[in-house]
Amino acid sequence: MRRIFLVLALVCLSFAAQARTDVTILARTCNNCHGVGGVSAGASMPSIGGLQRDYLRRVMKQWKYDERSAITMSRIVKGFSDDEIDALADYFAKQPWTPVVQKTSPEAMDKGLATVSKICTDCHGKAGSDPDVDAPNLNGQWARYMELELEKYRSGEFKMPHRKMKKAIHEASPADAAAAARYFGAQSK
Ligand code: HEC
Ligand code: HEC
Repeated sequence: MRRIFLVLALVCLSFAAQARTDVTILARTCNNCHGVGGVSAGASMPSIGGLQRDYLRRVMKQWKYDERSAITMSRIVKGFSDDEIDALADYFAKQPWTPVVQKTSPEAMDKGLATVSKICTDCHGKAGSDPDVDAPNLNGQWARYMELELEKYRSGEFKMPHRKMKKAIHEASPADAAAAARYFGAQSK
């Protein structure tokens, strides 16, 4: 009887170990583009390590089920089951958020700060490091990437289902939004 328990325990352990290795192996395919631990080398490629779990789960499923537009990611996530997507989201959420601080001009900083204080602080925090539960970190995220995403929220041609973020971007001109992106990209914490 004891033996059976021992065997069962070992089987369970090896399954658990396998599940762990699997997600690490899956995550390696992401590292090719998003960097080790999800810290991207830039510039239109976002860092993903340390974003909130529910945000990661949601956006990946929105891409998978064609509820959200993305040229690259919508193809990639279709190769994963919902469980694998959840495991990947959990894995990257557990990595530390590592801001990549990008210097920008003093003019862009001033203009960015003015826009951020007026429109963005409530949901993202003043430096982009204190996001609402449904929002991603923006401090030290790649500015070029953020600029491109902001234009997607603005444009009617892309499916970006988050109403509040869509509404917010219409309160800023494209130039102000670009400055806000550069301001957030320059924040370390
Ligand atoms: C071939 C390069 C490539 C690979 C591989 C890749 N991604 Fe991406 N990822 C992108 C690009 C480019 C974007 C920006 C959106 C787009 O254009 O698709 C992105 C965006 C994202 C975002 C959105 C980040 C944010 O700030 O909102 C998440 C989350 C993400 N990827 C997760 C993953 C995961 C998890 C994997 C591995 C299963 C992965 N990606 C593999 C290129 C890649
Ligand atoms: C009402 C709350 C709210 C306001 C105001 C707001 N945001 Fe957002 N923002 C969000 C949420 C929530 C998301 C994630 C939305 C989604 O799932 O598509 C987001 C996403 C983003 C993204 C995409 C980041 C990524 O990693 O893909 C950027 C960039 C961004 N916001 C910048 C801004 C800027 C700049 C402003 C001010 C001009 C602003 N936001 C105002 C809530 C807000």
